[in-house]
Amino acid sequence: MIKPIIIGNWKLNGTQQSIKNFLKLLKNFLIDYHKKCTVVISLPVLYSYLMQKLLFSKNKNFFLGAQNVDNHCSGSFTGDISPFMLKDIGIKYVIIGHSERRFNYKETDRMIANKFYLLKQENLIPVLCIGETKQEKVENNTINICKKQIDLIFDVCGIKAFNNSIIAYEPVWAIGSKISATPQEAQFIAGFIRQYIHSQTKNRIKNFFIQYGGSVTQYNAKNIIQQKDIDGFLLGRAALQIEEFIAIIKTINM
Ligand code: PGA
Repeated sequence: MIKPIIIGNWKLNGTQQSIKNFLKLLKNFLIDYHKKCTVVISLPVLYSYLMQKLLFSKNKNFFLGAQNVDNHCSGSFTGDISPFMLKDIGIKYVIIGHSERRFNYKETDRMIANKFYLLKQENLIPVLCIGETKQEKVENNTINICKKQIDLIFDVCGIKAFNNSIIAYEPVWAIGSKISATPQEAQFIAGFIRQYIHSQTKNRIKNFFIQYGGSVTQYNAKNIIQQKDIDGFLLGRAALQIEEFIAIIKTINM
């Protein structure tokens, strides 16, 4: 198995104090685990400096992530943050296409593909979230949905798009629901994703990872990470509780 990559998506959560508490425990833990696992925290970007100051410089396998980015480089886009700005403050991984943004902010596949393109221009690592709704699952449409979400990235960014990037397979019905995909379901789709990306790129792809996300806990993490095509996790709630976060990293390394 390759070194797993675990990304915590804090969403709209966190305070200066909660970050200090979280890092107090994470800091010591990462000293032992830094060779076994790459850990990324995607916290609200305004707290990035604080996290950097408290932890970042001393840990080679710990990185900062963002939860979103604008699909423009600069200009009259009130409230937005550009890929260059993220890079400028030391962010390395950027989640795009999370279902909460697709549904709450009506982000389209094309907008997401434009974000992907701009991130690559800045040498940032896109973490592209894809996955089906409950209805689409019932209609047996998961593969088509995932394929469509991937295809627009190829259209906009070209055949090399997925070098140095991550696809997080996140079934929408599993996010925040306490019902994760089974290890077999996750593997089936992750296997499809890998095979599809390889077939499109004629196997000329480097540093491409597939994560699973959606109700991962310390109890199901081990069975899911053992699947052949799952290289790590995108965690929501589990990344807010330091004890749970650490327990997941420990179980997958046992
Ligand atoms: P969850 O969220 O782990 O709380 O289900 C996952 C996500 O939103 O990426």
